[in-house]
Amino acid sequence: MDNKEIELEFSIKSGAPEKQRSACVVVGVFDNRKLSEPAADIDRASDGYLSEILRGGDMDGKAGSTLLLHKVPKVLAERVLLVGLGKERDFHEKAYRDAISSAIKTLRDTGSMEAAITLSEIPVKKRDTAWNIEQAVISTHDTLYRFDHHKSKPNEVRRPLKRVIFSVSRRGELKQGDAGLARGLAIAHGINQAKDLGNTPSNICTPEYLAGEAKKLAKAHGFGCEILDYAACEKLGMGSFLSVGKGSDKPPRFIVLKHEGGAKNAKPVVLVGKAVTFDAGGISLKPPAEMDEMNYDMSGGGAVIGAFRAIGELGLKLNVVGLIPACENMPDAKANKPGDIVTSMSGQTIEILNTDAEGRLILCDALTYAERFEPDAVIDLATLTGACVIALGAHPSALYSNHDPLAREIEHAADHAWDRVWRMPLWDDYQEQLKSSLADMANIGGRPGGSITAACFLWRFAKKYHWAHLDIAGTAYKGGRDKGSTGRPVSLLVHWLINRAARP
Ligand code: BES
Ligand code: MN
Ligand code: ZN
Repeated sequence: MDNKEIELEFSIKSGAPEKQRSACVVVGVFDNRKLSEPAADIDRASDGYLSEILRGGDMDGKAGSTLLLHKVPKVLAERVLLVGLGKERDFHEKAYRDAISSAIKTLRDTGSMEAAITLSEIPVKKRDTAWNIEQAVISTHDTLYRFDHHKSKPNEVRRPLKRVIFSVSRRGELKQGDAGLARGLAIAHGINQAKDLGNTPSNICTPEYLAGEAKKLAKAHGFGCEILDYAACEKLGMGSFLSVGKGSDKPPRFIVLKHEGGAKNAKPVVLVGKAVTFDAGGISLKPPAEMDEMNYDMSGGGAVIGAFRAIGELGLKLNVVGLIPACENMPDAKANKPGDIVTSMSGQTIEILNTDAEGRLILCDALTYAERFEPDAVIDLATLTGACVIALGAHPSALYSNHDPLAREIEHAADHAWDRVWRMPLWDDYQEQLKSSLADMANIGGRPGGSITAACFLWRFAKKYHWAHLDIAGTAYKGGRDKGSTGRPVSLLVHWLINRAARP
């Protein structure tokens, strides 16, 4: 990664906010000018200075509002930043993350190089101190993330934020805070890596490039790493995977990553990530609008690499295998054509009715390949269908699973990571939509339930183990003018893996 990662120094402290010697102390104010506890401390220390300002109407505590004060009497910090938190009874996960983010944005824009942020002390229902700190760290990195090394003149931030202190309410909470910090940092680094890979345009981020990045990461963290080329995949019988890349001059790569942190004979979990480095649709060419966003079609693979970065940093005690089928889907004389029939590694044959339904064609062979690891569980991640975006929008990833306990584990991890999922039906009833008169199945099932029939297609290749599929088409990146990778669902994966490692 040629990215100059923003180097931020975090620490966790407890103590009176008015005695913080930091350049800027950040305190929260709820709607209707109700002071959070640290804000009330500063108010008392300064003989009601904050209350007076609030009475004057400069700030009302509405979510998203901020007010920067200089030289508050009897406060050691040079500046005090007030951040609006919205209504106290609506101060849930989203409001918390938004408050951290607006504090960080204001600190960045006002050239504060150092800050003590007390928003992390404010209770969020059902969440503990470790959660607050972890989310604060992730949200800070998310807010400061930039991807500008393809700009000839990157926006130089003259006084970048360098040191951030998050406070906890009591000394007894410091240990929890430090644990949240360690976890949050590893996840944030994993998210950054996934974002960088996603944001790198497809003329640079090719299957070969992804393989190189995986190798680099493997070297840095001691992972096993194997790159299978066309010939190796052909030997394995991956006729479905290989058919997709044929229309491109960028050769396909099948990336295998192995983290052996668990007991020697313990069965691994396997993460499979779709990595179509550009999805033009193939002969079933996509319309021009938004086609530029199809470099993000490798986000599943990017999330696997990002999750590996995090588990490498955490030294996770678990055996984890990452499988990333990487190729490009282009129209060409050699490309798949509608009506072609291919034979997958499983032996099942597929009639390709639409060459744009290519994700399932590459994933099915990866799912078959996963069998050789006798996995305890397999999760695949894929920007698989536009239908998923229509069904759920941009907030949850769609979750499908052939094993209820696994689905519940994932739902739990997703909630805790605040990287949410929504369970969808994986029912046999949908399978008939995939009927083909000439092959074992077709690769499309018509418009109704498009995300579901795609999952049902994959299910046919995941009969030998506990499996879940996440359709991340709506969550992995943002489109439009502010397009960019979100790094999802790295956080969810890392939480799930941590929970798995803690299992007796
Ligand atoms: N990569 C796309 C899915 C996608 C679409 C992701 C929009 C993000 C935003 C996938 O390969 C695809 O083209 N799916 C088709 C399937 C259809 C032909 C059955 C789709 O969703 O239109
Ligand atoms: Mn496609
Ligand atoms: Zn695709």
